[in-house]
Amino acid sequence: MLPERRRMRVRSPGGTAASSAPPSTRFPGVAIYLVERRMGRSRRAFLTRLARSKGFRVLEACSSEVTHIVMEQTSAEEAVCWQERRAVAAPLGCTPAALLDISWFTESLAAGQPVSVECRHRLEVAEPRKGPPSPAWMPAYACQRPTPLIHHNISLTEALETLAEAAGFEGSEGRCLTFQRAASVLRALPRPVIALSQLRGLPHFGEHSSRVVQELLEHGVCEEVERVRRSERYQTMKLFTQIFGVGVRTADRWYQEGLRTLDDLREQPQRLTQQQKVGLQHHRDLSSPVLRPDVEALQQLVEAAVEQALPGATVTLTGGFRRGKLQGHDVDFLITHPEEGQEAGLLPRAMRCLQDQGLVLYDQYQQSHYGDPAWQSHTMDAFERSFCIFRLPQPPGASVREATRPRPAWKAVRVDLVVAPISQFPFALLGWTGSKLFQRELRRFSRKEKGLWLNSHGLFDPEQKTFFHVASEEDIFRHLGLEYLPPEQRNA
Ligand code: UTP
Ligand code: MN
Repeated sequence: MLPERRRMRVRSPGGTAASSAPPSTRFPGVAIYLVERRMGRSRRAFLTRLARSKGFRVLEACSSEVTHIVMEQTSAEEAVCWQERRAVAAPLGCTPAALLDISWFTESLAAGQPVSVECRHRLEVAEPRKGPPSPAWMPAYACQRPTPLIHHNISLTEALETLAEAAGFEGSEGRCLTFQRAASVLRALPRPVIALSQLRGLPHFGEHSSRVVQELLEHGVCEEVERVRRSERYQTMKLFTQIFGVGVRTADRWYQEGLRTLDDLREQPQRLTQQQKVGLQHHRDLSSPVLRPDVEALQQLVEAAVEQALPGATVTLTGGFRRGKLQGHDVDFLITHPEEGQEAGLLPRAMRCLQDQGLVLYDQYQQSHYGDPAWQSHTMDAFERSFCIFRLPQPPGASVREATRPRPAWKAVRVDLVVAPISQFPFALLGWTGSKLFQRELRRFSRKEKGLWLNSHGLFDPEQKTFFHVASEEDIFRHLGLEYLPPEQRNA
């Protein structure tokens, strides 16, 4: 028996222990619960104190915060039964914690930090009889669930997105999409995945993506992902496709011909389009991220030029920056005018104004193709636009990192200017805000679930042969029977 004072401290659910011994947060992602059954009360109290003294967070109650449940002298079958009973009482959407043998706990104490969970630590039967509650809260389409920018599974999504990217480089569109969808599901989870069992029932998790996650959970790295990242093929394709004006097909052709570096390309200028030459010329600037202050400076310059070209016209920031990103590869602006038709022809005038100020290094203008039957098969929308590279003046002063070297007077930045008539503006805004996967899913949802065709120009009912009139993005979500998601929740 324990002295009464000590027993008080380990009293479980609802006891006063949590307040008398505040849990430490040295390892904020890890919250441990020690199961008293088989372990015994006094040993549990002793282990709790020991772990807390080393900075581990040990909770008194097995709440939804718990990430690691530790049991002693318990078989996998018994452990799963215990967890299933507990799951019945757990709130819907609560992801199950990892069920672990005491060996994980003692190894962690010895290491002075939580060790990564390996197979031998797990108390899990291969095929649970029923499985945990199905996560009905995770709908299959990305447009049916909020996806924040900051999420809880970065190392897992980075790995899956590397595989998606590599599949894209090989022209395997389907495989690329499969990995992207799995990664997007993890982005939407409310907590970190620490046990493979948490994937059970999640949409878009096939055998391959699950295996990648399993390896990462058990070993901290996935051999396949590491192999891809190290490969000459992946590194070269990544380097080439980052160049302005270079797509997967061109990059692949260059690779097949033995080209590997930017200098290899510079030695063969006759192979390059004008766009690619400019891309290479400003490669250093264009491959470094665009930052928020750049975006604000650009918006002011573009707004002034647009106002001069057509008073009353508006400029709206779209793309990743509208979704809350702090960095991007370019800046996307959408231009319109409250009076339909007024917007026609404004872009060349605005561009001339920007050029006269010496702000434009490159400009590729494309007129509107809306209503052009030859454009119908195009994957790109038909808006009037300019793909540009701006010569953005930089504020004077030394850069933060290299305090001794003065900051260059300007920086090359990729900017897309797109013009939409006001009647199509909400669709254009929705389409250009992205993310790419979110828009893709939204269009697939419209087609498959609602029988409606959505793109950046409108929403069409093919049976009635009618277009929907909308005044806002909210209207579009409403027509599709979807809950409205603000831009910050579209980071699928
Ligand atoms: P971006 O490629 O600029 O991506 O396309 P992003 O989300 O802003 O991220 P960064 O720039 O890499 O940081 C923005 C959105 O515009 C759509 C894309 O589908 C994406 O949803 N878009 C892009 C078009 O609709 N048409 C285009 O020609 C290009
Ligand atoms: Mn962008």
